[in-house]
This record gives sequence, structure tokens and C-alpha cells, in this order.
Amino acid sequence: MSIFSDETLDLIKQLNQNEQFDFKGLHCHIGSQIFDKTSFIKEIQALLHYVKRIFDEKGIIVEVLNLGGGFGVQYTVADQALDLEATLPQLLDTVYTEVLNLNLQLPKIIIEPGRSIVANAGITAYTIGATKKTLSGKEYVFVDGSMADHIRTALYQAKYEAALVDRMDETADYHYTLAGRACESGDILIHDCVLPKVEINDILCVFSTGAYHYSMSSHYNRLLKPAVIFVNEEAIRLVNKRETYEDLLTQDRL
Ligand SMILES: Cc1ncc(COP(=O)(O)O)c(C=O)c1O
Repeated sequence: MSIFSDETLDLIKQLNQNEQFDFKGLHCHIGSQIFDKTSFIKEIQALLHYVKRIFDEKGIIVEVLNLGGGFGVQYTVADQALDLEATLPQLLDTVYTEVLNLNLQLPKIIIEPGRSIVANAGITAYTIGATKKTLSGKEYVFVDGSMADHIRTALYQAKYEAALVDRMDETADYHYTLAGRACESGDILIHDCVLPKVEINDILCVFSTGAYHYSMSSHYNRLLKPAVIFVNEEAIRLVNKRETYEDLLTQDRL
């Protein structure tokens, strides 16, 4: 619902009066991969001005303000992740200042920090199965995964970086197109993947795949989903087992 629509104010009034509902407050999500804290500051100011309007025009107190997520994380060296330890207190300061300025009751503040919790915790490991040089000189590296487990590049040109697990110390000066095995022209994981010269059977890892990867994975072209393993200093735990063809066929009635 838009805060610029009169219908929204009317709906809030109806919700507040309806016995079936317990109107608590407002929720807003302004987008994803936001690197500039001023966007969140403006969000808070806009929301609190709206909270004031709800009180002035309808006499309703907003108890909860959910600011959503969108805190930018680092996928490539070009990304400057939002520093949450520094930014979140500043956002709360903005809340306090605006609440005082507008003479409001302090609402409970909620955030939905989606990918910023998990994106950098994930790494996807692939085995290199083949390489190919095209007539134009473009060098492809094909791995045993695909857009079925890594859709964000195909979906909205997201950028990633990768490395060869056993050759991290070698100079990376080859520019490859990292492609999958889904048999689609759009099945690209990284358009400009800078690595040392690759060999068949090298293990390649793509970084920052902890968010929106397994949760967005599919059986595109009936490909099987990979295993998910949690690792820390003390333990290695299988969290999702690697799928088998039997798993894939469980819903089929032959
Ligand atoms: C309503 C809402 N809250 C939070 C998030 C989390 O966003 P992000 O993972 O970019 O922080 C999303 C993602 O689309 C969302 O739709």
C-alpha cells in the first residue's frame, strides 16, 4: 500500500476498528543491496511522518515500525558492504530524533536483515568439467553446477567472484566465462571470472552464496540439487543431503 494514497489511511482506520484485527503498525522494505545509509534514514523519516499523520488524522498510535531489510553485502571487491555495527545505531538515533521532533510515542523498531546475516557465510564448490575457446577467443569454463543452483546472475546480472580451492596463491590473470551445465545460453554463473589457468577437475569455489542460492535453487532441466554442509572450527555437518535421481522421481506416478 502506498503512503501517498488516501485509501491506505482509510484501510488502517478500518483495520484498527475491526475486531478480527489487532493493528500494530507499519512495515516497509525499500529494496535490496542498499549501500548508502541515507536511504534508510530517509525511509525512517518518511515512515515517522506518516505515523504522525495517522495519529493526527485518525487518532491511531503506531506501536511497531518494521524497517525491512536491504542492507548491502559484499559480493565482489567493488562492493562496500554497509557497516551494520556503525549504521544501525545511527538509524536508531534518527528514530529518536524524529520521534522527539514530531512529538510521537516511541514505536518498537524491527528490522529484517535477510542476506546480511548469511550471504558471506556461504561458498559453493564446483568441479571443473570442461573448457572451451570460441572462434572469437572467449574462454569458457564449465562446472558441474548451473543456473539451477545459482540463478542470480541469469536473473538480474548479479556479480560474483571465484577462486580455485587448491591454487589460491597463484596469480589470477585469465579471464573466463564461467558456465553451467543446464544447456542454456543464459546459464552463466560469472561473466568475467578471473582465475589462474584452470585444469579439468580443479575445484572452484564461488563466494558469497549463503543467501538466495539454495533457497532459490530449482530442478531446472531436472538437474539434482547439491548437498549443503555447515562447517565451523569444530565441526562439519551435513544439513541437506545431495539429491539422487530417486529423490527427483518421488512425485512422479509412473
Ligand atoms: C519484505 C522483505 N524484507 C526483507 C527482505 C530481505 O532483503 P535482503 O536480503 O536484501 O536484506 C526482503 C527481500 O526481498 C523482503 O522482501
